[in-house]
Amino acid sequence: MDTQPIYPIGQRIPNGMLEDNYPRNMWWVAALREEVTEKPLARWLLETPVVLYRTENGDTAAMYDRCPHRWAPLSEGHVDGSRIICPYHGMQFDTKGNCVKAPTQQMTPKSAQIPSYETREAGAYVWIWMGDQSAIDCEPPDVSYQTDPNWTFMSGYYDVAVNWVLVRENVLDLTHIPFLHANTFKQNDWVTAPETYMDGDTICYEQEFDLAPLSPLFCAGMGLPEDKPIKRKQVGRMPTLAVSFSDWMVHDPQPESGRRSDFVVRGCHIVTPAQRGRTHYFWGAAFDVPELSDEVIEKTSKNVVAAFDEDKDLLEKMQTQISNDPRGLNYLEVTLGADGAGIKVRQVLNKKLEAEGRSLK
Ligand code: FES
Ligand SMILES: [Fe+2]
Repeated sequence: MDTQPIYPIGQRIPNGMLEDNYPRNMWWVAALREEVTEKPLARWLLETPVVLYRTENGDTAAMYDRCPHRWAPLSEGHVDGSRIICPYHGMQFDTKGNCVKAPTQQMTPKSAQIPSYETREAGAYVWIWMGDQSAIDCEPPDVSYQTDPNWTFMSGYYDVAVNWVLVRENVLDLTHIPFLHANTFKQNDWVTAPETYMDGDTICYEQEFDLAPLSPLFCAGMGLPEDKPIKRKQVGRMPTLAVSFSDWMVHDPQPESGRRSDFVVRGCHIVTPAQRGRTHYFWGAAFDVPELSDEVIEKTSKNVVAAFDEDKDLLEKMQTQISNDPRGLNYLEVTLGADGAGIKVRQVLNKKLEAEGRSLK
């Protein structure tokens, strides 16, 4: 493990958050699986209008959401078998974006072709590759625990009016919990920085804590009393820029007889750039406990949302400040020891963009 680099005061590490800073050649999450049905779904992804739908065979399809005839959004049309049909003059397109029928004429115009995108279903999500379709060299990150019956998984969604990097860095530096979430998470012992390191291309952090009560947000999921001191290790991983996990490894040193002493609570933070200054944020929370009751799920989700509302509110205010200030990003940015993971995000981002022949200011 390395120690966190401390950058000199005033040295800004580029993050490009006022520009198009989205790598194309990687898997991003487009939607929850259940959102993609035979009714077309319109969604902006990486400043591109995309229509997603499910064919009669159950496959997912994604393409540019703009008919090449007179530009009607195909998402306003309907699906027939594997085809999507434009609502305006009825042109039909297959899942690769090729026009296969123009109802008013015999000839199908060959030029009537729209970009289509590869999709995958993994865990709770539909993933999309928006870049060079011939450059696909990997599958989406492993999120199989989300559909594993030994886990209970809950999820939610936010449309956040910020660049995606602000959310990504937020969820990788949880030392903001005792401050921003003092009245929600109430995990007020997180006031020192974790160790951060790279495991291949995966950003990791780890930190152990002494006996202390666990955040009440998670106690119900494990059946723990809210005031019981437990041991806890925090482990974070960011396998790709699209997704990171925050594991709360809980150890109850004095479990009641017949009860488990160890649990994992896994936060999942998925960000997808939408439009300039807008980000899709799909959050997940899971316990390695099967079939938690609806009541526990509802209570936990409600409390998680109350905390994440605080992030959304502050991050949007930060973006507004940065966007409206004529100095933009050219303003003092101090880096602290707790920014180890955030700095690595920017480094991974720059490397990824450079591989696509781009760079950030
Ligand atoms: S705009 Fe789509 S068929 Fe005319
Ligand atoms: Fe937060």
